Amino acid sequence: MERRTVGAAALGVGAVGLGCMPMTWAYSASRRDGEQSLRAVHTALDHGATLLDTADMYGPFTNELLLGRVLKERREEAFVATKCGLLVGDQHIVANGRPGYVRRACDASLRRLQTDVIDLYQLHRVDPEVPIEETWGAMAELVAAGKVRALGLCAVGARADRRAGSGLYDETLRQLVRAQQVFPVTCVQAELSVWAPEALDRLLPWCGARGIGFLAAMPLGNGFLTGTLTPGEGFEPDDVRARHPRFTAEMMAANQPIVAGLRRVARRHGATAAQVALAWALAQGPAVVAVPGAKSSRWVAENAGAADLRLTAADMAEIAALPPARGSWD
Ligand SMILES: NC(=O)c1ccc[n+]([C@@H]2O[C@H](COP(=O)([O-])OP(=O)(O)OC[C@H]3O[C@@H](n4cnc5c(N)ncnc54)[C@H](OP(=O)(O)O)[C@@H]3O)[C@@H](O)[C@H]2O)c1
Repeated sequence: MERRTVGAAALGVGAVGLGCMPMTWAYSASRRDGEQSLRAVHTALDHGATLLDTADMYGPFTNELLLGRVLKERREEAFVATKCGLLVGDQHIVANGRPGYVRRACDASLRRLQTDVIDLYQLHRVDPEVPIEETWGAMAELVAAGKVRALGLCAVGARADRRAGSGLYDETLRQLVRAQQVFPVTCVQAELSVWAPEALDRLLPWCGARGIGFLAAMPLGNGFLTGTLTPGEGFEPDDVRARHPRFTAEMMAANQPIVAGLRRVARRHGATAAQVALAWALAQGPAVVAVPGAKSSRWVAENAGAADLRLTAADMAEIAALPPARGSWD
């Protein structure tokens, strides 16, 4: 697989990685299967999809435990990216950016992941009650202690920025500038896909100008862009898409032209819509690493194949001309 480097720390990874979240979090609980997930992680490494993205809050904790079972055997082949800073409670998910908590969270992640070092330690969300300088300073100490190789920040995202009443990614960029003054940001992770291209306006160029890597999260539009979801089929109650405004039967039907467009491009290349969606993300610049989520070897292998798909200028223009997605949280 094509290799890319993650940020100024120049850490080499496959251009397509694996988002492990669906294995224990966010989507259809009844379809989770530990053994299948383990095979999927092995398949990712077999194909050179070396960046494995997880978080302590996925599960919570079970996602890292699962990965740890693979890393115990294949640590050398993997690039481990995990996150801290969000606590899952009975009713709510809350941010915790206190330095003492960050230090404990890192030690706990290392234990669960069965490794001595995390390649990329990401702050999942900024704690509104703790200045980012304090949180980021504590994370920088983890680098100095050899527990972590590089630091990343998950962008709060366009949606949260808009709710805060500011411009797209204004707040994210403010936090990034403050973090940079304490310790280098190696990588930013944010939503980027054909139906959520907002990061292209300012966030990705900002990262590119500073040699900061970019992990494209949700590059398959939570599965929608693969064309394998049927409008009106519904989602299990614990599936985030059951409450997502773009996943009502009406909006899924309204957004079908986007899938149809991806399929048209895919047919010309003998590829799938999912592969075109991922190739589109990779075409946004050399700093981008796509992190599609999947829990089966079949999807993982298909997604890894997207690294070999080169979209033409005509393909990119056709995708750019697709109608913007309908349905939003605003
Ligand atoms: N930082 C953040 O705030 C944040 C937020 C969300 C996600 N993330 C990260 O980004 C990663 C990717 O996001 P995501 O998993 O939410 O969304 P995604 O990658 O856009 O889509 C994942 C969904 O697509 C399905 N899928 C994957 N490959 C497929 C294929 N080739 N054909 C058909 N369906 C396919 C998966 O199905 P199955 O479930 O059946 O395998 C899964 O339901 C996550 O795993 C996580 O690591 C970060």
